[in-house]
Amino acid sequence: MTTFLISGGRGLVGKSLGRMLKRQGHTVYKLTRRPKRKGHIYWNPEKQSIEGKHLHKIEVIINLAGANIGAQKWTKKRKTELLNSRVNSIQFLKQTAASMPKLNYFISASGINCYGYNTQIEKTESDEYGNDFLSELVKEWELASNSFKEICPVAILRIALVVDKKGGALEKIMKPVKFGLGSPLGTGQQYLPWIHIKDLCRMFIYCIENQKEGTFNAANGYISNEEFMKTISKKMRKPFFFPAIPKTVLSFFLGEMSTMLTESLKVSNKKIKENGFEFLFPDFDSAMTHIIKKED
Ligand SMILES: NC(=O)c1ccc[n+]([C@@H]2O[C@H](COP(=O)([O-])OP(=O)(O)OC[C@H]3O[C@@H](n4cnc5c(N)ncnc54)[C@H](OP(=O)(O)O)[C@@H]3O)[C@@H](O)[C@H]2O)c1
Repeated sequence: MTTFLISGGRGLVGKSLGRMLKRQGHTVYKLTRRPKRKGHIYWNPEKQSIEGKHLHKIEVIINLAGANIGAQKWTKKRKTELLNSRVNSIQFLKQTAASMPKLNYFISASGINCYGYNTQIEKTESDEYGNDFLSELVKEWELASNSFKEICPVAILRIALVVDKKGGALEKIMKPVKFGLGSPLGTGQQYLPWIHIKDLCRMFIYCIENQKEGTFNAANGYISNEEFMKTISKKMRKPFFFPAIPKTVLSFFLGEMSTMLTESLKVSNKKIKENGFEFLFPDFDSAMTHIIKKED
């Protein structure tokens, strides 16, 4: 059995992943700025402060920490927070790794929105970074993660939109749909990569168990925004006839952040499949059926 340290472990992904690891019998410590219970370890990367008592037991670090990309408009100040909360916390974590003699693997979250938008070609892990804000953020974030290679093997998962009922983007999207207000965003023709929370957690564990190294797109697939919204409405047994919300309206309310919703991105998941990983959910329809039925 393995002892894990999950930074940002109290967030959407960390909660599910922590539960899955504990069910398998592993020991999980969560690094958080707000420790609330046993198994939580206090840290504050900004103040370069960390509670050290369990660090000597850590064998694997799962890095999920970072200010939420979709929580606030991307002002200049917020962009700096989004970057620093990722890059500086990894750098601080690396400094503290000196207190982790058993550390033998580092795996980090990263984002799928790193290739730029609006090409018809499926992006693979060997494609170049784009030139927009998120691409530049991911580039710095991954550079920081890869610095762990001086200590142990490193894997990076470029995560697509996480589909989970209990939080994140889907929970927010489902609210208007509940009132029969589901509609496409922008043209509705733009593609959106997605991953079911269960497949994402399985993919983290698969990479750890098999000591996979390198960068992997973490997406079950991609779907047009119109199909995405239509499927959610259908599964929730709600009407879907509202007119599309124009890109200009989304841009007015969300600013530059609206690009995540209105611009198109197709990504390939061939690399992780060729590495032996099998996704549970072949399409968005089956993923939503699972989400709505609350199957485990
Ligand atoms: N969910 C998605 O759809 C998605 C898609 C692509 C990539 N990702 C990436 O995957 C990772 C995990 O996603 P998630 O959905 O679980 O995120 P989340 O729910 O927002 O949780 C992230 C955690 O990061 C910690 N955090 C926030 N600000 C921080 C700061 N300034 N310094 C250090 N830690 C900070 C928080 O932990 P404490 O408050 O407990 O300290 C929080 O629980 C994130 O890096 C995210 O960007 C997620």
